[in-house]
Amino acid sequence: MIGFFDSGLGGLTILKEVIKILPQYSYIYFSDNARTPYGSRNQETIYQFTLQGVKKLFEKDANLVILACNTSSSSALRKIQQEFLPKHYPNKNVLGIIIPTAEEIGKFTSSQDVGILATEATVNSSSYPKEINKINSEIKVFQQACPLLVPIIESGKINENDLDVIIKKYLNELFQKSRKIDTIILGCTHYAIIEDKIKKCLPKNVKVVSQGVIIAQKLKDYLVQHPEIEKTFVKDSKKLFFTTENSERIKYLTQLFYGEPIKIDLVNLI
Ligand code: DGL
Repeated sequence: MIGFFDSGLGGLTILKEVIKILPQYSYIYFSDNARTPYGSRNQETIYQFTLQGVKKLFEKDANLVILACNTSSSSALRKIQQEFLPKHYPNKNVLGIIIPTAEEIGKFTSSQDVGILATEATVNSSSYPKEINKINSEIKVFQQACPLLVPIIESGKINENDLDVIIKKYLNELFQKSRKIDTIILGCTHYAIIEDKIKKCLPKNVKVVSQGVIIAQKLKDYLVQHPEIEKTFVKDSKKLFFTTENSERIKYLTQLFYGEPIKIDLVNLI
């Protein structure tokens, strides 16, 4: 199976797009709702939590895991790939979502000034500026941490006016760093669910890039380039969803993020 990991439910916005273009595979989604958000935690904690999620997905038969979480991709991916996998699971793979997004961003910007909205951990890692500048050193990357957004989104209160005030505050701070920004990456998978609200607070000429469609296409390309991995997948379109904390709120939110009701089961990490 192909595993998807996120601290919470934001990764469903990626999985949904992947299933649209790769419906034949079987997917397993793991959401650490008991401990979300990760974004204001330190790197070691994010690494340990992400690793537990990845191990759980491997135990449940995932061969390839996508960290559908920028925070985990920025703070845990490298160590998982370089230290954990070679030692414990040399035949399994874990991929992140920052490099594939960085690879595409040059296609969107004309001014060469790009803004990133992300969690504190993603911003502090500087993963986006590093990865974008490896590909194109002309692009100037301006980052804005938005620590209040994930807690509000996970609480389900996305239709309240306060959210607009908070979005405007963050955008204001971002544009103070550069008035030439013409492209904004939603560098946290949760933000895709409030993409329309963010767009409404921006001038029309500013493009908003969310990751779902990009990651789906990149995964498709990756599987074409890696037939040895592709051939290990069962093609029976099965979908399984697990969370470390279940409740009526989480059921409501899964439907909101995924676009249709899903059965999500409780899993214990210990
Ligand atoms: N969806 C995660 C991301 O993309 C949320 C981070 C969090 O848990 O704070 O970064």
